[in-house]
Amino acid sequence: MATLLYIQASPRIEHSHSIAVASAFVEAYRAGHGDDRIVEMNLFETDLPPFDLLAVNAKYNVMHSREQSDEQRAAWDRIVAEINRFKAADKYVFAVPMWNFSIPWRLKQYIDILVQPGLTFTIEDGRYKGLLEDKSALIVYARGGQYPAGTDLNAFDHQKPYIETILPFIGITDVSAIVIEPTLQQGPDAAGQKQVAAIEKAKQLVGQF
Ligand SMILES: Cc1cc2nc3c(=O)[nH]c(=O)nc-3n(C[C@H](O)[C@H](O)[C@H](O)COP(=O)(O)O)c2cc1C
Repeated sequence: MATLLYIQASPRIEHSHSIAVASAFVEAYRAGHGDDRIVEMNLFETDLPPFDLLAVNAKYNVMHSREQSDEQRAAWDRIVAEINRFKAADKYVFAVPMWNFSIPWRLKQYIDILVQPGLTFTIEDGRYKGLLEDKSALIVYARGGQYPAGTDLNAFDHQKPYIETILPFIGITDVSAIVIEPTLQQGPDAAGQKQVAAIEKAKQLVGQF
């Protein structure tokens, strides 16, 4: 029995294009994997630990093998619990909007929690090494505009390249992508058509996941 963690990074839930496509994938997956556990998490509705001064000091204490204060230890325990929840999954589905050419701040907060030396990555012989193994991920990206490869606009895309850097960095190397764009630029009818096509593609990917 595998565990699939479905992470939504849009607060728009029922209006979100990335969630519509990712949810269609998850439902198709559920139909074919009745024994698997599916855990859903909307990052805007989840009480994530803040990655603030307390958490940063706790992180640096761990890195430099220093004693934690009680308050720092409690902050670090919350971070580690979140990492363990993430690592307990075998497969990941992410619904990721583009916000200001990058990812929503809440997903960045989640990444700042997850990416920790000794827990999700390490440095071996001067090289980065991800500590997660045998995981796969599907990322559904939604953008209001279009950023096609081979055009000048592609340089504005700090959403997909970032996710495709950070997931392998922690060891998630089997990463598939579906892009739905433009969700705004050409109006709602065009966005609707793009969504139908993206859902079709998502359902086709279920067999390989
Ligand atoms: C705060 C914010 C910033 C955005 N920035 C961009 C952007 O830089 N480029 C773009 O193409 N669309 C941008 N958009 C539009 C979203 O990418 C678009 O609405 C997309 O469909 C959002 O994903 P969702 O439908 O899953 O919520 C932005 C939307 C918001 C709310």
